[in-house]
Amino acid sequence: MKRIGLLTSGGDCQALNATMRGVVKGLSTNLDELEVYGFDDGYKGLIYGNYRMLSAKDFSGILTRGGTILGTSRQPFKLMRVPDERGLDKVEAMKQTYYKLRLDCLVILGGNGTQKTANLLREEGLNIIHLPKTIDNDIWGTDMTFGFQSAVNIATDVIDCIHTTAASHSRVFIVEIMGHKVGWVTLHAGIAGGADIILIPEIPYDIDKIVDAINKRNKAGKGFTILAVAEGAISKEDAKLSKKELKKKQEEDKKKYPSVAYKLEDELQKKLNLDIRITIPGHTQRGGSPCPYDRVLSTRLGSEAAKLILNDQYGYMVGIVNGKVKKVPLEECAGKLKMVSPDEQLVQDAKRIGISFGD
Ligand code: F6P
Repeated sequence: MKRIGLLTSGGDCQALNATMRGVVKGLSTNLDELEVYGFDDGYKGLIYGNYRMLSAKDFSGILTRGGTILGTSRQPFKLMRVPDERGLDKVEAMKQTYYKLRLDCLVILGGNGTQKTANLLREEGLNIIHLPKTIDNDIWGTDMTFGFQSAVNIATDVIDCIHTTAASHSRVFIVEIMGHKVGWVTLHAGIAGGADIILIPEIPYDIDKIVDAINKRNKAGKGFTILAVAEGAISKEDAKLSKKELKKKQEEDKKKYPSVAYKLEDELQKKLNLDIRITIPGHTQRGGSPCPYDRVLSTRLGSEAAKLILNDQYGYMVGIVNGKVKKVPLEECAGKLKMVSPDEQLVQDAKRIGISFGD
Protein backbone atom coordinates (compact mmCIF):
# COMPACT_ATOMS: atom_id res chain seq x y z
CA MET A 1 0.00 0.00 0.00
CA LYS A 2 1.29 3.45 -0.92
CA ARG A 3 -0.23 6.90 -0.50
CA ILE A 4 1.23 9.51 -2.81
CA GLY A 5 0.61 13.17 -3.54
CA LEU A 6 1.06 14.68 -7.00
CA LEU A 7 1.45 18.29 -7.99
CA THR A 8 2.46 20.24 -11.08
CA SER A 9 3.98 23.66 -10.46
CA GLY A 10 5.28 26.62 -12.50
CA GLY A 11 4.65 27.22 -16.21
CA ASP A 12 2.91 24.30 -17.86
CA CYS A 13 4.30 22.35 -20.79
CA GLN A 14 3.48 19.33 -22.90
CA ALA A 15 3.88 15.88 -21.27
CA LEU A 16 2.99 16.80 -17.68
CA ASN A 17 0.00 14.48 -17.91
CA ALA A 18 2.04 11.82 -19.69
CA THR A 19 4.58 11.88 -16.85
CA MET A 20 1.96 11.61 -14.09
CA ARG A 21 0.40 8.75 -16.03
CA GLY A 22 3.79 6.98 -16.02
CA VAL A 23 4.11 7.37 -12.24
CA VAL A 24 0.59 6.17 -11.46
CA LYS A 25 0.61 3.28 -13.94
CA GLY A 26 4.02 2.20 -12.64
CA LEU A 27 2.62 2.11 -9.11
CA SER A 28 -0.86 0.72 -9.76
CA THR A 29 0.53 -2.11 -11.89
CA ASN A 30 2.78 -3.22 -9.05
CA LEU A 31 0.70 -2.55 -5.94
CA ASP A 32 -2.54 -4.00 -4.63
CA GLU A 33 -3.47 -0.74 -2.99
CA LEU A 34 -2.66 2.80 -4.03
CA GLU A 35 -4.04 6.15 -2.94
CA VAL A 36 -3.31 9.17 -5.11
CA TYR A 37 -3.98 12.74 -4.00
CA GLY A 38 -3.77 15.38 -6.72
CA PHE A 39 -3.15 18.93 -5.48
CA ASP A 40 -4.83 21.79 -7.34
CA ASP A 41 -2.66 24.45 -8.99
CA GLY A 42 0.76 23.41 -7.75
CA TYR A 43 2.07 24.29 -4.29
CA LYS A 44 -1.05 26.41 -3.73
CA GLY A 45 -3.09 23.23 -3.35
CA LEU A 46 -0.58 21.81 -0.89
CA ILE A 47 -0.47 25.04 1.15
CA TYR A 48 -4.24 25.54 1.35
CA GLY A 49 -5.22 21.88 1.44
CA ASN A 50 -7.00 21.85 -1.91
CA TYR A 51 -6.78 18.35 -3.32
CA ARG A 52 -8.76 15.57 -4.93
CA MET A 53 -8.47 11.87 -4.47
CA LEU A 54 -7.77 10.33 -7.83
CA SER A 55 -7.87 6.79 -9.10
CA ALA A 56 -5.73 4.98 -11.65
CA LYS A 57 -8.62 5.57 -14.10
CA ASP A 58 -8.03 9.33 -13.99
CA PHE A 59 -4.61 8.71 -15.52
CA SER A 60 -5.90 6.71 -18.47
CA GLY A 61 -6.25 8.44 -21.82
CA ILE A 62 -4.05 11.40 -20.90
CA LEU A 63 -0.81 10.38 -22.60
CA THR A 64 -1.42 12.80 -25.47
CA ARG A 65 -3.15 15.57 -23.55
CA GLY A 66 -1.22 18.84 -23.17
CA GLY A 67 -1.42 21.10 -20.11
CA THR A 68 -2.01 19.52 -16.71
CA ILE A 69 -5.12 17.83 -15.34
CA LEU A 70 -4.19 19.21 -11.90
CA GLY A 71 -3.75 22.85 -12.86
CA THR A 72 -0.63 24.84 -12.03
CA SER A 73 0.51 28.19 -10.68
CA ARG A 74 3.72 30.05 -10.04
CA GLN A 75 4.66 30.17 -6.33
CA PRO A 76 8.12 31.80 -6.22
CA PHE A 77 10.67 29.96 -4.09
CA LYS A 78 11.90 33.24 -2.57
CA LEU A 79 8.41 33.84 -1.10
CA MET A 80 7.99 30.37 0.38
CA ARG A 81 9.43 31.45 3.73
CA VAL A 82 7.38 34.67 3.65
CA PRO A 83 3.98 34.32 5.36
CA ASP A 84 0.94 34.90 3.09
CA GLU A 85 -1.34 37.96 3.41
CA ARG A 86 -3.19 36.28 6.31
CA GLY A 87 0.07 35.46 8.10
CA LEU A 88 0.06 31.76 7.19
CA ASP A 89 3.43 29.99 7.35
CA LYS A 90 3.42 28.29 3.91
CA VAL A 91 6.11 25.73 4.66
CA GLU A 92 4.39 24.62 7.86
CA ALA A 93 1.05 24.51 6.04
CA MET A 94 2.51 22.25 3.32
CA LYS A 95 3.96 19.93 5.95
CA GLN A 96 0.65 19.76 7.76
CA THR A 97 -1.22 18.78 4.59
CA TYR A 98 1.39 16.09 3.89
CA TYR A 99 1.16 14.64 7.40
CA LYS A 100 -2.62 14.94 7.59
CA LEU A 101 -2.92 12.78 4.46
CA ARG A 102 -0.21 10.43 5.80
CA LEU A 103 1.56 10.52 2.46
CA ASP A 104 4.44 8.15 1.73
CA CYS A 105 5.77 10.51 -0.89
CA LEU A 106 5.08 13.74 -2.72
CA VAL A 107 5.81 13.65 -6.46
CA ILE A 108 6.53 17.15 -7.73
CA LEU A 109 6.65 18.02 -11.42
CA GLY A 110 8.22 21.36 -12.22
CA GLY A 111 11.17 23.48 -13.30
CA ASN A 112 14.04 25.12 -11.44
CA GLY A 113 12.05 27.19 -8.94
CA THR A 114 9.75 24.26 -8.22
CA GLN A 115 12.79 22.06 -7.66
CA LYS A 116 14.21 24.48 -5.08
CA THR A 117 10.99 24.29 -3.08
CA ALA A 118 10.98 20.49 -3.51
CA ASN A 119 14.45 20.43 -1.99
CA LEU A 120 13.34 22.69 0.85
CA LEU A 121 10.52 20.25 1.65
CA ARG A 122 13.05 17.40 1.56
CA GLU A 123 15.21 19.33 4.05
CA GLU A 124 12.09 19.68 6.20
CA GLY A 125 11.85 15.89 6.31
CA LEU A 126 9.27 15.07 3.62
CA ASN A 127 9.72 12.22 1.14
CA ILE A 128 10.08 13.89 -2.24
CA ILE A 129 10.57 12.85 -5.87
CA HIS A 130 11.05 15.62 -8.43
CA LEU A 131 10.42 15.21 -12.16
CA PRO A 132 12.06 17.76 -14.46
CA LYS A 133 9.52 19.66 -16.50
CA THR A 134 10.21 22.69 -18.68
CA ILE A 135 10.36 23.68 -22.31
CA ASP A 136 13.56 25.59 -21.41
CA ASN A 137 15.65 22.44 -20.77
CA ASP A 138 17.64 24.38 -18.18
CA ILE A 139 17.59 21.89 -15.30
CA TRP A 140 21.03 20.78 -14.18
CA GLY A 141 21.59 17.03 -13.82
CA THR A 142 19.44 15.87 -16.73
CA ASP A 143 20.27 16.00 -20.44
CA MET A 144 16.64 16.53 -21.26
CA THR A 145 13.53 17.89 -19.60
CA PHE A 146 10.09 16.86 -20.79
CA GLY A 147 8.38 19.58 -22.81
CA PHE A 148 11.60 20.69 -24.47
CA GLN A 149 11.41 18.60 -27.65
CA SER A 150 7.73 19.44 -28.11
CA ALA A 151 8.54 23.16 -27.86
CA VAL A 152 11.44 22.75 -30.29
CA ASN A 153 9.03 21.11 -32.75
CA ILE A 154 6.62 24.04 -32.55
CA ALA A 155 9.32 26.70 -32.83
CA THR A 156 10.82 24.82 -35.78
CA ASP A 157 7.44 24.72 -37.53
CA VAL A 158 7.21 28.49 -37.07
CA ILE A 159 10.63 29.05 -38.66
CA ASP A 160 9.67 26.67 -41.50
CA CYS A 161 6.55 28.72 -42.21
CA ILE A 162 8.48 31.98 -42.06
CA HIS A 163 10.99 30.68 -44.60
CA THR A 164 8.62 30.75 -47.57
CA THR A 165 7.21 34.19 -46.87
CA ALA A 166 10.64 35.64 -46.01
CA ALA A 167 12.03 34.35 -49.32
CA SER A 168 9.08 35.63 -51.36
CA HIS A 169 9.39 39.15 -49.99
CA SER A 170 13.17 39.31 -49.54
CA ARG A 171 12.73 40.32 -45.92
CA VAL A 172 14.63 39.99 -42.69
CA PHE A 173 12.60 38.04 -40.14
CA ILE A 174 13.18 37.94 -36.41
CA VAL A 175 11.57 34.91 -34.76
CA GLU A 176 11.62 35.31 -30.98
CA ILE A 177 11.73 32.03 -29.13
CA MET A 178 11.03 31.25 -25.45
CA GLY A 179 13.64 29.82 -23.10
CA HIS A 180 13.80 32.22 -20.15
CA LYS A 181 17.50 32.85 -19.36
CA VAL A 182 18.92 30.11 -21.61
CA GLY A 183 19.11 29.42 -25.35
CA TRP A 184 18.39 25.69 -25.68
CA VAL A 185 15.07 25.95 -27.53
CA THR A 186 16.41 28.66 -29.84
CA LEU A 187 19.61 26.76 -30.56
CA HIS A 188 17.80 23.55 -31.50
CA ALA A 189 14.87 25.14 -33.34
CA GLY A 190 17.22 27.58 -35.07
CA ILE A 191 19.34 24.76 -36.44
CA ALA A 192 16.33 22.54 -37.25
CA GLY A 193 14.58 25.41 -39.04
CA GLY A 194 17.65 26.51 -40.98
CA ALA A 195 17.90 29.95 -39.35
CA ASP A 196 20.80 32.04 -40.67
CA ILE A 197 21.52 33.81 -37.40
CA ILE A 198 20.96 32.40 -33.90
CA LEU A 199 21.13 34.68 -30.88
CA ILE A 200 21.15 33.19 -27.38
CA PRO A 201 21.79 34.70 -23.93
CA GLU A 202 24.94 32.63 -23.41
CA ILE A 203 26.62 34.23 -26.47
CA PRO A 204 26.10 38.01 -26.29
CA TYR A 205 25.67 39.61 -29.72
CA ASP A 206 27.44 42.45 -31.48
CA ILE A 207 24.93 44.29 -33.65
CA ASP A 208 27.59 45.03 -36.30
CA LYS A 209 28.36 41.33 -36.64
CA ILE A 210 24.67 40.67 -37.29
CA VAL A 211 24.58 43.44 -39.90
CA ASP A 212 27.70 41.94 -41.55
CA ALA A 213 26.06 38.49 -41.68
CA ILE A 214 22.90 39.91 -43.29
CA ASN A 215 24.89 41.96 -45.82
CA LYS A 216 27.00 38.93 -46.68
CA ARG A 217 23.86 36.96 -47.48
CA ASN A 218 22.49 39.77 -49.62
CA LYS A 219 25.77 40.00 -51.54
CA ALA A 220 25.57 36.26 -52.16
CA GLY A 221 22.14 36.79 -53.72
CA LYS A 222 20.13 35.48 -50.79
CA GLY A 223 17.62 38.23 -50.38
CA PHE A 224 16.22 37.14 -47.06
CA THR A 225 17.57 36.36 -43.61
CA ILE A 226 15.99 34.57 -40.69
CA LEU A 227 17.13 35.28 -37.15
CA ALA A 228 16.15 32.86 -34.39
CA VAL A 229 16.39 34.99 -31.27
CA ALA A 230 16.04 33.76 -27.70
CA GLU A 231 13.81 35.92 -25.53
CA GLY A 232 16.79 36.38 -23.19
CA ALA A 233 19.31 37.35 -25.91
CA ILE A 234 21.61 40.15 -24.81
CA SER A 235 24.06 42.50 -26.51
CA LYS A 236 27.79 42.53 -25.76
CA GLU A 237 27.51 46.01 -24.21
CA ASP A 238 24.70 44.94 -21.90
CA ALA A 239 26.55 41.77 -20.92
CA LYS A 240 29.41 43.93 -19.61
CA LEU A 241 27.15 45.79 -17.15
CA SER A 242 26.99 44.93 -13.47
CA LYS A 243 23.88 43.07 -12.28
CA LYS A 244 22.40 46.29 -10.88
CA GLU A 245 23.19 48.36 -14.00
CA LEU A 246 21.77 45.65 -16.25
CA LYS A 247 18.53 45.51 -14.28
CA LYS A 248 18.15 49.29 -14.64
CA LYS A 249 18.94 49.15 -18.38
CA GLN A 250 16.47 46.31 -18.94
CA GLU A 251 13.75 48.25 -17.11
CA GLU A 252 14.40 51.22 -19.42
CA ASP A 253 14.33 48.96 -22.49
CA LYS A 254 11.00 47.49 -21.35
CA LYS A 255 9.43 50.95 -21.53
CA LYS A 256 10.52 51.24 -25.17
CA TYR A 257 10.21 47.69 -26.48
CA PRO A 258 7.71 44.91 -25.73
CA SER A 259 10.52 42.35 -26.02
CA VAL A 260 14.05 41.76 -27.30
CA ALA A 261 12.87 41.21 -30.90
CA TYR A 262 11.64 44.82 -31.06
CA LYS A 263 14.87 46.14 -29.59
CA LEU A 264 16.84 44.22 -32.16
CA GLU A 265 14.60 45.38 -34.99
CA ASP A 266 15.17 48.98 -33.92
CA GLU A 267 18.95 48.48 -33.75
CA LEU A 268 19.01 46.76 -37.16
CA GLN A 269 16.71 49.25 -38.83
CA LYS A 270 19.20 52.03 -37.99
CA LYS A 271 21.91 50.18 -39.91
CA LEU A 272 20.05 48.44 -42.73
CA ASN A 273 17.73 49.61 -45.45
CA LEU A 274 15.72 46.39 -45.46
CA ASP A 275 12.21 45.29 -44.61
CA ILE A 276 12.26 43.70 -41.14
CA ARG A 277 9.38 41.72 -39.62
CA ILE A 278 8.91 40.08 -36.22
CA THR A 279 7.15 36.81 -35.35
CA ILE A 280 6.65 35.69 -31.76
CA PRO A 281 5.09 32.25 -31.27
CA GLY A 282 5.02 32.85 -27.47
CA HIS A 283 2.96 30.42 -25.42
CA THR A 284 2.04 28.29 -28.44
CA GLN A 285 5.46 26.76 -27.71
CA ARG A 286 4.06 25.29 -24.50
CA GLY A 287 0.78 24.16 -26.00
CA GLY A 288 -0.77 21.14 -27.66
CA SER A 289 0.13 17.46 -27.44
CA PRO A 290 3.55 16.22 -26.41
CA CYS A 291 5.66 15.01 -29.33
CA PRO A 292 6.52 11.26 -29.44
CA TYR A 293 9.99 11.89 -27.97
CA ASP A 294 8.45 13.58 -24.92
CA ARG A 295 5.86 10.83 -24.53
CA VAL A 296 8.63 8.25 -24.36
CA LEU A 297 10.80 10.39 -22.05
CA SER A 298 7.87 11.08 -19.72
CA THR A 299 6.90 7.44 -19.59
CA ARG A 300 10.46 6.50 -18.68
CA LEU A 301 10.85 9.18 -16.01
CA GLY A 302 7.42 8.40 -14.54
CA SER A 303 8.13 4.69 -14.51
CA GLU A 304 11.48 5.23 -12.77
CA ALA A 305 9.82 7.49 -10.20
CA ALA A 306 7.38 4.65 -9.49
CA LYS A 307 10.32 2.28 -9.04
CA LEU A 308 11.94 4.60 -6.50
CA ILE A 309 8.67 4.90 -4.56
CA LEU A 310 8.19 1.13 -4.58
CA ASN A 311 11.71 0.82 -3.13
CA ASP A 312 11.18 3.66 -0.61
CA GLN A 313 13.98 5.72 -2.15
CA TYR A 314 13.28 9.43 -1.80
CA GLY A 315 14.98 12.81 -2.17
CA TYR A 316 15.79 12.49 -5.87
CA MET A 317 15.14 14.14 -9.21
CA VAL A 318 14.72 11.54 -11.96
CA GLY A 319 16.60 12.66 -15.06
CA ILE A 320 18.15 11.18 -18.17
CA VAL A 321 21.88 11.17 -18.80
CA ASN A 322 23.48 9.71 -21.95
CA GLY A 323 20.24 7.92 -22.77
CA LYS A 324 19.96 6.26 -19.37
CA VAL A 325 17.41 7.18 -16.71
CA LYS A 326 19.25 8.39 -13.62
CA LYS A 327 18.31 9.42 -10.10
CA VAL A 328 20.07 12.58 -8.96
CA PRO A 329 20.07 13.64 -5.28
CA LEU A 330 18.03 16.84 -4.95
CA GLU A 331 20.70 18.51 -2.83
CA GLU A 332 23.10 18.09 -5.77
CA CYS A 333 20.96 19.68 -8.46
CA ALA A 334 18.63 22.17 -6.72
CA GLY A 335 19.47 25.79 -7.53
CA LYS A 336 21.76 25.04 -10.48
CA LEU A 337 21.01 26.26 -14.00
CA LYS A 338 22.04 24.27 -17.09
CA MET A 339 23.10 26.79 -19.71
CA VAL A 340 24.40 26.40 -23.26
CA SER A 341 28.17 26.57 -23.25
CA PRO A 342 29.60 28.67 -26.11
CA ASP A 343 32.04 25.76 -26.58
CA GLU A 344 29.19 23.28 -26.93
CA GLN A 345 29.77 20.92 -29.88
CA LEU A 346 26.36 21.84 -31.29
CA VAL A 347 27.29 25.54 -31.36
CA GLN A 348 30.59 24.74 -33.07
CA ASP A 349 28.85 22.47 -35.61
CA ALA A 350 26.40 25.26 -36.41
CA LYS A 351 29.15 27.85 -36.78
CA ARG A 352 31.07 25.56 -39.14
CA ILE A 353 28.16 25.51 -41.58
CA GLY A 354 27.98 29.30 -41.58
CA ILE A 355 25.32 30.04 -38.98
CA SER A 356 26.17 33.33 -37.29
CA PHE A 357 25.78 33.75 -33.53
CA GLY A 358 26.40 37.47 -33.82
CA ASP A 359 29.64 37.19 -31.82
O1 F6P B 1 9.77 28.46 -18.18
C1 F6P B 1 8.92 28.30 -19.25
C2 F6P B 1 8.58 29.63 -19.88
O2 F6P B 1 7.71 29.40 -20.95
C3 F6P B 1 9.77 30.45 -20.31
O3 F6P B 1 10.32 30.01 -21.52
C4 F6P B 1 9.17 31.83 -20.36
O4 F6P B 1 10.17 32.81 -20.16
C5 F6P B 1 8.20 31.81 -19.21
O5 F6P B 1 7.91 30.45 -18.95
C6 F6P B 1 6.91 32.55 -19.47
O6 F6P B 1 6.19 32.55 -18.29
P1 F6P B 1 4.65 32.88 -18.17
O7 F6P B 1 3.87 31.71 -18.66
O8 F6P B 1 4.45 33.10 -16.72
O9 F6P B 1 4.38 34.09 -19.02
